[in-house]
Amino acid sequence: MKFRTRQIHAGVKPDPTTGAILTPIHQSTTFVQESIDEYMARGYSYSRSGNPTVDAFEEKIRDLEGGAGAAAYASGMAATVAVLMGFLNAGDHAVVSDVVYGGTHRFATRVLARFGVEFSFVDTSDPALVAAALKPSTKLVFTETPANPTLKLTDLRAISDLTAERGLLHAVDNSLLTPYYQRPLELGADFVVHSTTKYLDGHNATLGGAAVAATSEQLVQLKFMQKSAGSIMSPLVAWLTLQGTKTLSERMDRQSANALEVARFLESHQRVTRVGYPGLESFPQFDLAKRQASGFGAMAWFEVEGGVEAGKRLMRSVKLWSLAENLGQVESLITHPVTMTHGDMPPEERARAGITDGLVRLSVGLEDVEDLIDDLAQALETV
Ligand SMILES: Cc1ncc(COP(=O)(O)O)c(C=O)c1O
Repeated sequence: MKFRTRQIHAGVKPDPTTGAILTPIHQSTTFVQESIDEYMARGYSYSRSGNPTVDAFEEKIRDLEGGAGAAAYASGMAATVAVLMGFLNAGDHAVVSDVVYGGTHRFATRVLARFGVEFSFVDTSDPALVAAALKPSTKLVFTETPANPTLKLTDLRAISDLTAERGLLHAVDNSLLTPYYQRPLELGADFVVHSTTKYLDGHNATLGGAAVAATSEQLVQLKFMQKSAGSIMSPLVAWLTLQGTKTLSERMDRQSANALEVARFLESHQRVTRVGYPGLESFPQFDLAKRQASGFGAMAWFEVEGGVEAGKRLMRSVKLWSLAENLGQVESLITHPVTMTHGDMPPEERARAGITDGLVRLSVGLEDVEDLIDDLAQALETV
């Protein structure tokens, strides 16, 4: 069946006892066993190791990504941690995209490094640089594409070919495009990770994550991490995310169309020096964006003339756009990375990653695009 049908029906069916069309929220921690001889006959014992509502969401995301199995976690970070800790040992080396969600960078450098895992942060948009960074101890390559916040793209097929040839694992953070637009497992990746907090929920209502494995052997380790680290998604979050996912394609299409219009407006504005949106012909990786995904997503960025102060003036002037750090929601959100998400990053590292002082990140929502553009236009008058 087609994606739009599967996003609604995969993983769920009417409750067999009541006919309730929505999967119940199985809030119980404890599942009583029939007898000592039939232990786990119904598949559940304690909700840290498995829960029927969480199972339903896991089956939905597994189906949408086309994997062998999925494990759902308490946050996107918990999903990333499960992959990194589940598949790397002391003495191993991993290559990670240089522009990557800050929490991923923080966990690698400040937690896993303490346990003897070595990381190289590499511009994964160039497969030759990835190949050059590999060592005999390399076990895994972790990419994020489009990368947050610059939207730099990684060629997933090229990196997957490179890792497969050498018997390495390739994990991809697919939070920004979702399986509706991009399916890394079909391009040869071994794992997909998601912050379900973003587009899969889409309503600013939950914090959650998921990891999808290409093989059932790898799934065993993901499930083991969920249970051992105690990082499983809660039943209520699974239930809310099940509902959010049913409208994923409609939200993605509308929000992406809005993002393209907003990006075009910004490109024509005299106070704006640069605009980044993978769906613009001016985007340096426009061809790759068209080739590896079926849509461009709803994240964009632009640079205002006048650096940090101009960026701050813009933030003070917007009325409809909410000043916030999240992304992927029905509400349009605006972020000034230098004063907000990336304030802690040393200026030289920020410059290397392309996060300039006047950079403004947009997570374009579902509102009427005319209102979104009008608000940016009045705010740009004040910078
Ligand atoms: C691309 C990306 N991956 C992972 C995460 C982490 O997700 P969470 O906040 O759900 O832990 C985020 C969060 O902002 C993100 O933007």
